[in-house]
Amino acid sequence: MRTLVTGAAGFVGSHVVEALEAAGHEVSGLDRRPGAGHSGEAPGERPGAGHSGEAPGGRPGTGHVVGDVRDAETLARSLRGVDAVVHQAAKVGIGLGIADMPEYASVNVYGTAVLLAAMAEHGVGRLVLASSMVVYGEGVYDCPRHGRVRPGPRAQPDLARGAFEPRCPYCGAEPSPVATDEDAPPEPRNAYATTKLAQEHLAANWARETGGTAIALRYHNVYGPRMPRDTPYSGVAAIFRSALESGRAPRVFEDGRQRRDFVHVRDVARANVLALGSGVPPAALTTCNVASGEPHTIGEMAAALAAAHGGPEPVTTSEYRLGDVRHIVAAAGRAARDLGFRAEIGFAEGMREFAVAPLG
Ligand code: UD1
Repeated sequence: MRTLVTGAAGFVGSHVVEALEAAGHEVSGLDRRPGAGHSGEAPGERPGAGHSGEAPGGRPGTGHVVGDVRDAETLARSLRGVDAVVHQAAKVGIGLGIADMPEYASVNVYGTAVLLAAMAEHGVGRLVLASSMVVYGEGVYDCPRHGRVRPGPRAQPDLARGAFEPRCPYCGAEPSPVATDEDAPPEPRNAYATTKLAQEHLAANWARETGGTAIALRYHNVYGPRMPRDTPYSGVAAIFRSALESGRAPRVFEDGRQRRDFVHVRDVARANVLALGSGVPPAALTTCNVASGEPHTIGEMAAALAAAHGGPEPVTTSEYRLGDVRHIVAAAGRAARDLGFRAEIGFAEGMREFAVAPLG
C-alpha cells in the first residue's frame, strides 16, 4: 500500500516507517524536521514549522517532505498517489501546562482537521491514528461494595500524607484496579489528552462522512531506542533513562507502586502495520489499546532499567504530581481480535535493551 506517515522523523514515526518498509509498503514521510528522528529535539519543537521542501537528510529510499501537517499545500503534495495515512505527527506529553494549550490544540486538533479535509479532497480512504491511553484518565476499578467504579482526581491532602490509592466515589473504600478496555468512558485530564480525544472524534466524523476506514491506536507507555531525552514533554521511561546516563538515580514518585503498561516501540510500529492491513469496518472509528498486556509498577521499571544500566539505584521520593493518575493498565483483547496484534518484546528483554540503547 502507498502510505504517508506524518511525524515520520519522530520517535514512534521513524519506527513505523521502518516497519512498513520491511512489510513491503511504499512509504513516504512528512515531518517538520528532516531525517529519521535522531536530532534529539522534542517532536514539534523545531523552529521553522510551515517551511516545506524535500529533505536533504531524509531517509534513503523514502520520499520525505519537510513541512507542517497544518499546511494544506504541503499536504496536497504529500498525498498525491497515496492510499493510506498513518498519522503520528503530534505535540506529545504533558508539557508546561496551560501556556502550551494553544499549541496542543493547533498541532493536534487543527492539524488533524486539515489532514482529514485534504484526505477527503484527494480520495485517501484509510487512516491509522496515533492516539493514547491518556484519553481514559484514571483507569477502571472494582469496589468491593459498588462494583465497577471510576474514581475522580485524587485530593491533594491525601497525596500529601502518602495516601496514593484512589477512593471509591460512593463509599471511600480502596478499590482494586482492573484492565481498562476501549469502552471505558473517556476522561481526559490535560490538554494533550483532550486533543487526542478530539483527534479521535474528528477521525470518526471523517470516516462516517466519507465512508473511509479509521483506526485509532491508543498507545500505552511507549519506550525503546530513539526515545527523546528528558524534556517537559517526556514520559517516565525517558526521564529515568536520561538520569541513568548522566549518573543520577531515577526518582520514583509516590510509593513506586503505581502501575502502567510499558510497550516497546517496535511492537507499537508492528501494531500500525497490522492496523493498516486489518479488515475493520469502514465508515466508523475503531479504537484499540496497544499495550504489552504485562503491567508493571513504576518502581519495578526503575529497578529493571537501573540494574541493566549498572546503577545508580532508584530512590523512591513520595513526591507527587497533581495531574497524575494512579494506575492505568490495558485490556489488550480488542487489538488481538481485530488486528491480530500481540506484543512480542517482553518487559525484561525490552528494558535490558533500552537501558543501553541510543536516545533521540
Ligand atoms: C505517559 C505520557 C503521556 C502518554 C502516555 C502513554 C507524559 C508526561 N506522559 O503518561 O503523554 O500519552 O504515557 O504513552 O509524557 N514518574 C516518576 N518519576 C518521574 C516522572 C514520572 O516516578 O521522574 C511517575 C509519575 O508520577 C507517574 C508515572 O511515573 O506515576 C508515569 O508518568 P508519565 O510517563 O509522565 O505519565 P503517564 O501518565 O504514564
